[in-house]
Amino acid sequence: DGYAALKLFDQGYSYTYDDVIFLPHYIDFPTDAVSLSTRLSRNIALSVPCVASPMDTVTEPHMAASMASIGGIGIIHSNVTPSSQAAMVRHAKSRRLPIFSNPVFASPDSRRHFDDFDDKSSCILVTESGAGHSKLLGCAWKRDWLDLKNRDAKVSEYMQSIERSSVCVPWNCDLGEIDGILEEKKRDFVVLEKEDGEVVDVVTKEVVERLKGYPRLLGKGSVGPDGKWIVGAAMGTRESDKERLEHLVKAGTNVVVLDSSQGNSIYQIEMIKYVKRTYPELDVIGGNVVTVAQAKNLIEAGVDGLRVGMGSGSICTTQEVCAVGRGQATAVYKVSSIAAQSGVPVIADGGISNSGHIVKALVLGASTVMMGSFLAGSTEAPGAYEYQNGCRVKKYRGMGSLEAMTKGSDARYLGDTAKLKIAQGVVGAVADKGSVLKFLPYTLQAVKQGFQDLGASSMDLAHDLLRSGALRLEVRTGAAQVEGIAKVILKKGKIQLF
Ligand code: XMP
Repeated sequence: DGYAALKLFDQGYSYTYDDVIFLPHYIDFPTDAVSLSTRLSRNIALSVPCVASPMDTVTEPHMAASMASIGGIGIIHSNVTPSSQAAMVRHAKSRRLPIFSNPVFASPDSRRHFDDFDDKSSCILVTESGAGHSKLLGCAWKRDWLDLKNRDAKVSEYMQSIERSSVCVPWNCDLGEIDGILEEKKRDFVVLEKEDGEVVDVVTKEVVERLKGYPRLLGKGSVGPDGKWIVGAAMGTRESDKERLEHLVKAGTNVVVLDSSQGNSIYQIEMIKYVKRTYPELDVIGGNVVTVAQAKNLIEAGVDGLRVGMGSGSICTTQEVCAVGRGQATAVYKVSSIAAQSGVPVIADGGISNSGHIVKALVLGASTVMMGSFLAGSTEAPGAYEYQNGCRVKKYRGMGSLEAMTKGSDARYLGDTAKLKIAQGVVGAVADKGSVLKFLPYTLQAVKQGFQDLGASSMDLAHDLLRSGALRLEVRTGAAQVEGIAKVILKKGKIQLF
């Protein structure tokens, strides 16, 4: 019944995730017995197969720390100077909580206005010099400033002095420890502090209560040998990227991703060799690739992971503009089959818009999925929410869009010499989805149910079942795809067919 993957993907068609469907298999374990633990690259283990894409509307420190806190990883984008990107890596690794209040510092003699702070419970940290690296003297709260008759008063006139020892806790305290300390000391907040006395952030009781209310996180957080979050960073293959690499390594990046839409190039092969020669301990992920031949070249050059996808992303126009690419289901299957022989994990990059797509990517051979649009509407993505036609949205743009390339991402799409910029991506917006800490655990529970339906209790087992031909697939006709989508919607309390 159905087809083995080997046969289905050998017929000359380029299939997307929506084109194919798995036939159910045999269940002999409960959903909770499914483990999604995996590898991002040869030496980086994750408990959750989710990666936030290196795009400037997706992954900056808040996203990277939040993804790591649930057992996944974020790759910091490179559309900034090397030192700014390195600072973002450091920032993401500077705490063990998925929150960023981005504290503002002031000296006691300064005069501050709180108009730019949304929240009444926001505060400014008062230090001797007015910067993070100096003695903490107290906190100035927006609510106290609002009560002032003279809002131009010096900070010292309304700040609350604090005893450093009673309020500062080590930067790497986790949520449980901070909750315990707040309870024990009967305080409303604590201040996270590094070993050298640098103040990192303020954590209020309110935030701790909110985090406690999120679904129980699926896996343990992704913590590296340095005791900090595992964080990745993107880079290019130009000569100047060697300097960027040095900055990133100094900042403690755990893995670098060579960011290119067509990775099978002499530039990338040379850069892979350079990274492995210069920093043998650092994992390097190559790509993007979609064919066996492309993958073989990068594997031979020594990559620790392969990123798969060309033109499958929601903001991509590469296939239209350049007539090159591949359907993502076919690309993931083909590249994974060859990469598995060398033990190189595959990242299925782009085209994920529901949990079913994640199941398909993982079962077809990928070890992780990389997502852009799926995460871009979250609280943790960079940028502020805006309203479009009454919907709360966040901006999401392709790194090959003219707008992003103007900021520097043209290396990914243009190479060295192109003078005329041709867009390979678009600028858009995605709907507000709330916190990744809330919706990813639900998404992954759905993925576990998909694995259970297929009789696979782990990623390795799923791959074995697929390659042995025990898992069967079929191609869906257009009508079958329509049939597979819910056709009943609830509108103003009434059920309607559409
Ligand atoms: P999703 O579907 O998750 O895709 O939004 C994210 C992936 O798309 C790739 N990407 C682009 N591809 N033009 C392209 O052809 C672009 O401007 C562009 N920007 C991002 C990238 O691989 C990302 O992870």
